[in-house]
Parts: sequence; structure tokens; C-alpha cells
Amino acid sequence: MAIPDAFLDELVERSDIVDVVSQYVQLTKKGGNLFGLCPFHNEKTPSFSVSPDKQIYHCFGCGKGGGVISFIMSIENLSFPDAVRFLADKNGMTVPEESADQEIPRQRKRMLELNREAARWFYACLNGPGGAKAAAYLDKRGITRKTANRFGLGAAPEGWDNLLKAMREKGFTQDELLAAGLVTAGQRRKESGTRSVYDKFRDRLIFPVIDIRGEVLGFSGRALNDDQDPKYLNSPETLVFSKRRTLFGMNLAKNTKRSSILLVEGNIDVVTLHQAGFDNAVATMGTALTTEQTRLISRYAKEIVICYDNDPPGKKATERALDLLKNSEFTVRVLKLPDRIVDGKAVKIDADDFIRLRGSDAFEQLLSGSGGGMEFRLGELRDKYDLTDDMQRLEYLRAVCTMLAEIASPVEREVWCSRAAAGCGVTADALKQEVERQRKRNLKNSRKQYERSLTRPTRNAQPQEKKLRYDDIRSAVAEEGVIRLLLLDPGMIQECSLEAEEFTSPVLRRLYEDLRRRQKEGRSVTPSALAAGMEEGEAALLTELLNKPESGGQARETLRDYTDVIRQEKIMKSGDLQEIARLMRKKNKLD
Ligand code: UTP
Ligand code: MN
Repeated sequence: MAIPDAFLDELVERSDIVDVVSQYVQLTKKGGNLFGLCPFHNEKTPSFSVSPDKQIYHCFGCGKGGGVISFIMSIENLSFPDAVRFLADKNGMTVPEESADQEIPRQRKRMLELNREAARWFYACLNGPGGAKAAAYLDKRGITRKTANRFGLGAAPEGWDNLLKAMREKGFTQDELLAAGLVTAGQRRKESGTRSVYDKFRDRLIFPVIDIRGEVLGFSGRALNDDQDPKYLNSPETLVFSKRRTLFGMNLAKNTKRSSILLVEGNIDVVTLHQAGFDNAVATMGTALTTEQTRLISRYAKEIVICYDNDPPGKKATERALDLLKNSEFTVRVLKLPDRIVDGKAVKIDADDFIRLRGSDAFEQLLSGSGGGMEFRLGELRDKYDLTDDMQRLEYLRAVCTMLAEIASPVEREVWCSRAAAGCGVTADALKQEVERQRKRNLKNSRKQYERSLTRPTRNAQPQEKKLRYDDIRSAVAEEGVIRLLLLDPGMIQECSLEAEEFTSPVLRRLYEDLRRRQKEGRSVTPSALAAGMEEGEAALLTELLNKPESGGQARETLRDYTDVIRQEKIMKSGDLQEIARLMRKKNKLD
């Protein structure tokens, strides 16, 4: 029996490919991708890549590739349905055909009930004798009881099984506690030898993670002593809790009267900010911002202010978030926290530190003065160079040119040229001319690259898999281009005038049909979702074509070019002399 599409989409969306592959391959970051030694062929230098954005893997050595399901099929040697079941198990999901009844919704409901009871219990502990330590810690961090109550903060007391016992008394089973991630099965670190089930959260300050409907999805526990490791302990991914879909504080921030959402790094930052009157603060829980989270935010605000720590990891996270948001509908601003100067030395701080040191009025000022993403990037670049040194100034200008040449809007380019030139001993006009020249060079290069890809299709334009070989390479390369563009920007699917019948490669035609069908039905249009329904060789072809460079020109123009190539090829092959002559005339006029 077929597995429902909606279930597959959800499964793929929930199974982060980096997490899954990391169970088998040691990955290291290089640029936006991760690399490791290919598990499917022998190699000494890593050519196996995983893309967190596209949620696919591809080996440049042996050509294997696909989405999360095909990875499990290959590495665990499983059939498609078994691989789906394997992944579903890991995510606490049940493949629908196996539970015709309401098993999943029932389990989910029960887990939410358990979480709610646990949150109540933690809350009661904070206000009882077991919570004295956590209460003192709140005082130390300047968090009032009123704020703590608004967030439903609690305390996990010392001891191994307080929560376990309390929840058992309320009628929850050990298995239910395990599934919710509230208890752990295994060896207690301090009492080696005894295998047992014990409370996951012990001797910690508890932050319940609550969704916009008020359901308790999971917990985050902060250490109360410096020697406790890790500093924050979070619930694992469960039937109801997925970190990439959740924002801590969103349950409160959704009601803000402010027009933006303030994105910070930590739980404490959120709590402190709300207390200081910035009730639009939310935090990702120790992970990079995801599209699921931005989708959630978009229901409540059109503007995002990023306010991450001003240390190197915080700056990196800011760059990543800017990158994720660059083609979104959001207005994006970056709030830059100043260093704190102690004994003449700069010390890095976070939002919580700033509020504590300087107060909410000072923060309000920072907020109203915060600039856009370009301002942040320009500032970062400027900080890297000593502008009083001639050589370094030149290098700075060169780097600025590259950056500003990427801005699509001429007006914006002009504005930033003036800003970047200021204080550099060059006029804004001179810089602008240089930027325009760079822009022309970029366009010419991408045009050339694109033409080369069309006019000189080589043997390596053929897919690895023999039975998928293209009959008409020139057309097929353009067909690949169409698929690539549409996956990069699904908004264009509707605008593409090509009919599926115009595709010459059967596998690319099927991909195109699938794309259009998904778009029409409002289902997810991501490489990983597409790959889920494909055979191994086909999935590899998909990742192969996604890894080929796109011309970098205007997407709409390029799509039109590809469409033209496909139609021209058809005419050339038709042997219709009249049509061919007309085509030649048109081409000559254009050239
Ligand atoms: P930070 O280390 O910046 O903590 O981690 P913080 O929020 O400033 O906390 P304080 O001020 O020291 O109390 C930021 C966030 O990253 C996640 C948590 O969600 C934390 O709020 N994190 C951090 C973890 O998940 N695990 C860790 O061990 C540390
Ligand atoms: Mn902090």
C-alpha cells in the first residue's frame, strides 16, 4: 500500500539530513556545506558533501546522491518502505498505513498532557523547599517572581527520580516518560554499574517551551552551578517537540504591540528582555535560524531585528541568519551590542548583560538606531582593515566593490557607495564607477559561463547512471537548468510556460511534472521532498544537477533562455526547413 504523500513530506521535513548522515559519517564544515569521507566508496580525501539548505547529499567521487530517505536506503540497505519506517521510528512517527486508527494523535495528546503536568510540578518545586537554589539563582540574575510566573519557570530539584515518581503517581507510564524525554534510560554517571531509568532534568532552573497555542512542547534546563555540564540541557526531539520549528518565547511575543520580532540567542536573554519591556523577544534554542521558524514569525511580524551576542559565534550566526532572510519578505535589521570596556579591555556581551548594565532606555535607543543587513556587513568589513594604512585601505575598497556589486537595486548601490567611501579618501563617485565596472564584469562572466554550458556540452554533462543518459544533450542541459531554477525559486513554477511534453529527458520530464503538481497542491517543493519518491540513480541525477553552477544572472531571464534553447532544439530536430530558416533569421538578428 502506498504511503501518503503528506506523511512523506512531513517525515522528510522532520529528518534533518545533517543529523541523520552524522550518525554514519564524520562531517566537517566547509563553506555552506559539510564534507566527509564517502561511505559508499573507498576514498582518502573527503568528496562526500551534505547541504543543510537543500537537505541533500552528493558524492563528487562516486556520484551517489539523494535525500534523507535514499541515504538510509543505501547505507542501511533497506527497501523504500523499510527506510521510511526506519526514519519514522527515529522521529517517533508511525507510518499511517500501519495505524489506521488515531494512534499518533492519541500519543501526541497524551504527551502534551504529561508535559503540562511536568511543567506544573516543576513550577510547584520552584515555589517549594526543593526550589530554594533555583529561586536564589533567579534573584541573582535579577529575574522577578512576576516575570518567572509569566514564563512558567520552574525548578528541577536534586535527586534522581523525583519527577519520575511524581508522574508515575499521576498515572503516566515509564515508557511515556521516556518518549517525552523527561527521563533517561542508562547508566547513572555517578553510580556506575546501576542501569536504570532516571530524571533527565536534575538540579536545574527549568524553562518550559510553550507553543503559540499554549501547549508545553518540551523543556530547557539551565545549570545552577558552574561545574554542571552542559550549561543548558534541552528536551530531545519528540512527537511534539522539534527544535527547528520552535522559538522560545513566541507564545508571549505573538501578543506584542511592537511591530517587529526581536531575535536573540538565549533563554535568559528572552526573559530579561521581556521583563525590561521588550516583549517581542524570542530565541532559537542553541541552533541556527530555520525557514520553519521564519515562517512562524511571518504570521505575526513583517520585521525581524537580529540581536545575537557580539562575540565571533554570534556574528557568524548573524551572517547565517541574514543569508537565510536575504530573499524573504521581511525587513531585517541588526542590533549591534557594543563591547563592554573593563580596565581598558573590550569584553563581549549579550542582550541580557546589556540590559543589566545599561538599562532598558539604552537598549531602546540601540533598537531604534539599528541598521539593515548591509550596514552590519559593511561595518564588519571595515573593522577588519586599518584604514589609515594605504595598502589596507585599497584592500578594503576592493572587498567593498565585490560586496556592493551584488546589490541588485541601483538606488541602493548608490546609497551604499557613499556610505562605504566616507572616510576612505575616495569620492563616492569614484567608488561607484568601480562598483559598476565590477558589476559588468560579473554579468559578463556569468553570461559566458552560461553560454559555455550550453554550446559546449561535454561528456560530463551526461548523468552518471547509464540508463538515464540524455539523447539530446543540449536540450537536456537546458531542461536541467529549468529544474534547478525552479527549485531555487519555486515562485517561478507558475510562470514557466513549458509543457512537460517539451522535455526530452524522461526523468527530467517526470521531475518537472512532480514540481508542477506539488506547487498546485500546495505541498513542499524542496529537493529533499522530490528525492523521496525517486529511484536511486534518479535521485543522484537530481543532486548532480543541483550541484552544477547556475549562471547567476537574472533568474527570469535565464529561465527564458533555457526555454528558448529547449524549443530551438525541437525545431532543429524536426527537420522542418521553413521553421529552421525562420529560427536562423531570428538568431542572426539577435546576435
Ligand atoms: P549562551 O551560552 O549564550 O547562554 O547560549 P545564555 O542564554 O547567554 O545563558 P546565560 O546568560 O549564560 O545563562 C545561548 C543558548 O544556546 C543554547 C540555549 O538555548 C541557550 O539559551 N545552549 C547553550 C544549549 O542548548 N546548550 C548549551 O550547553 C549551551
Ligand atoms: Mn547570557
